[in-house]
Amino acid sequence: MTRGTDIRRASDVLRAGGLVAFPTETVYGLGADASRDDAAAKIFAVKQRPRAHPLIVHLAPEARLEDWAIDVPDAARALVAIAWPGPLTVILRRGPRVALATTGGADTVGLRVPSHPMAQQLLRAFGGAIAAPSANRFGAVSPTTAEHVIADLGDEVEYVLDGGPCDVGVESTIVDFSGRANAPGRANAPVLLRPGGMPRQAIEQIVGPLAEADADAPAAPGTLASHYAPRAEVIAAEPDEVPAAVAASHGKIAVLAPASAFAKWPDLAVLAYRLPEDLPGIARSLYAALRDLDAAGVDVVIAALPPAVGLGEAVGDRLRRAAGPRTSGSRKI
Ligand code: TXA
Ligand code: MG
Repeated sequence: MTRGTDIRRASDVLRAGGLVAFPTETVYGLGADASRDDAAAKIFAVKQRPRAHPLIVHLAPEARLEDWAIDVPDAARALVAIAWPGPLTVILRRGPRVALATTGGADTVGLRVPSHPMAQQLLRAFGGAIAAPSANRFGAVSPTTAEHVIADLGDEVEYVLDGGPCDVGVESTIVDFSGRANAPGRANAPVLLRPGGMPRQAIEQIVGPLAEADADAPAAPGTLASHYAPRAEVIAAEPDEVPAAVAASHGKIAVLAPASAFAKWPDLAVLAYRLPEDLPGIARSLYAALRDLDAAGVDVVIAALPPAVGLGEAVGDRLRRAAGPRTSGSRKI
């Protein structure tokens, strides 16, 4: 494994069918040539990810959508015209240049144009599309720095492009326009598969109300109930339930909350992990905080849920998945 800022070298690794970790504005991705089955297969092997879990395909801003997707609905075109480059993935019918291994055998594909300058430089130098899930082992916390990638995947990645810390800090929002996730009779409404870096409200302004995924449709991976999980037990609690959650917990306890919240809990004998007050700041620091707390040997992380508006929906979603079915968090899903 080598780490650096050499775009040319990174694109040579991709051309040879190898793996490159690279920064995006959301989280670091583990990239491979999206048009090659053999290259995409390496991602599944390194991540220890089930082969049926599709990968997101990253495009340069000037890529031709027709190469990568077919039957693109007008609403999807209108949305990506505004949202790209940025933290939004759209699920469409798979186009001719996407390898079947990339989509886990599905006839749909998740596409996104990242805004991170280094991701765009890499996509342009490479000239094709890059399949990339988050650059961590399956089910673990996503990496938001090159150091996180190296800690997780170390020698299994040929080259790590280092672009510093990610700006958004949570994964892209995923909206399904393929019709596959819809409940019967609602076949035309786009479905929110995963809240993320682009707030729901901004998307609904362009395409109208988003539908919820059909509970009977096959669950998209990354929407598994337990995901994004650190080693410590995580309890996602409403802010006013935090003291009771602390009282009910055992071992080395940390509370994860905006700095101002601790003023209300002067008597809590816990490790206080102070997050920024603003939602973008919370999203940006969330995954590094969970990693720091694991490194500090914490047994239980009690995380205060932010209001479920804007980026708060994605932060709350990740905290509840980190809590997952493993624990009796105060808000189980
Ligand atoms: O921000 C992000 O989206 C990051 C960066 C690297 O771009 N990528 C990311 O990838 O989060 P990953 O593999 O951790 O999440 C991909 C998720 C899948 O787990 C699945 O839920 C959904 O995207 N997905 C991808 N292709 C799909 C498809 N054809 N149908 C349904 N869901 C799909
Ligand atoms: Mg992931």
